[in-house]
Amino acid sequence: MSIVVDPETGQLQSERRSGLANTHIIWHADQLLALEEGSHPFTLSPKTLDSEGYGHYANGLSGPMTAHPKIDPITGELHGFGYMSDALGSAGMSYHVVDQQGVVTRSDTFTAPFAAMVHDFAVTRDYVLFPLFPLTFDFKRMEKLGSPFAFEPQAGAVIGVLKRGAPVSEIRWIEAPVCFVFHYLNAWNEGERITFDAIDFAVAPNFPDTDGNLPRFAEAQGTLTRWRLDLATCAVERTPLLDLACEFPRIDDRYAMKQHTQAFLATASQRQRGDGGLFHEVTHLNLESGATQVWDAGLGNGVSEPVFVPRHASADEGDGWLLATVYEATSQASSLVILDATAVSQGPIATARLDHRIPFGFHGSWRANE
Ligand SMILES: [Fe+2]
Repeated sequence: MSIVVDPETGQLQSERRSGLANTHIIWHADQLLALEEGSHPFTLSPKTLDSEGYGHYANGLSGPMTAHPKIDPITGELHGFGYMSDALGSAGMSYHVVDQQGVVTRSDTFTAPFAAMVHDFAVTRDYVLFPLFPLTFDFKRMEKLGSPFAFEPQAGAVIGVLKRGAPVSEIRWIEAPVCFVFHYLNAWNEGERITFDAIDFAVAPNFPDTDGNLPRFAEAQGTLTRWRLDLATCAVERTPLLDLACEFPRIDDRYAMKQHTQAFLATASQRQRGDGGLFHEVTHLNLESGATQVWDAGLGNGVSEPVFVPRHASADEGDGWLLATVYEATSQASSLVILDATAVSQGPIATARLDHRIPFGFHGSWRANE
């Protein structure tokens, strides 16, 4: 049994080995890992995709691990975190670091200001950020709302900031504007000035508020937004970067944790044209010039997250290809498209067509064949 009830407290506790492993797939320390935020990483055979199970980190992780760990391109370290680490609905969180050999070097628990769903986080060369937005948890909501999670603006929003290498007791919680973020594009710091790009929502899309009201359409649109956080003054500023509804942001991963200038996203410039809420475009945004290149996959068709592949190891930032799956409504089948990342608006340079649909997923990675 993987979920048990603590006889003393009544809390639901889990061995974190019963998830769907359906959110992201990454390569780290010669391991192919399928990730889902309520569980430990699940290992697959990289040659056959056979399941190898949850044992990779043995008992090294305290609580679950996010599906959005950050791999440091310089050190090879993997940084991750977990929320509701000690029990479902708790404010317990954890911070994990796994070295480039796949050894857990730290997995420390701490208590957040409130219990919230925390899907992603951000890491710079010098800092780790744990942003908390008020998608809070309360079992008592189940009967009224059908969900224990609800968007609760009055709970506020905070960003936990930890110097890399420092103990979790030194996390500073800095007040932030109330909104909601699932995904971060990247983050960097210049001294105590931290910048990160996020997909901001006015409220938590697809979740009710505490009265059971679901978000209005206009509130459920993501906006790529630059956040600046000054640790000296605790000032937080936000600036929108792109006037397109978007999600699933990716960079050239070689620029993780330092300043990036190129962004790739799934977008929807015509959200209400009849696509049923799908993202129907792949967009490249040059953050230096502000220029965009957009490829529209066609009416009724939906694109996935665009995954960037560098043209070669020393290629310039953003010089390479994008991989995305496309669901085509007329054929009810999916394809994998390859776009030139420097000429996205020209459309796919290659398409691998399937005779069936790939169910909509979330995230993916590229690994060069070695
Ligand atoms: Fe995600």
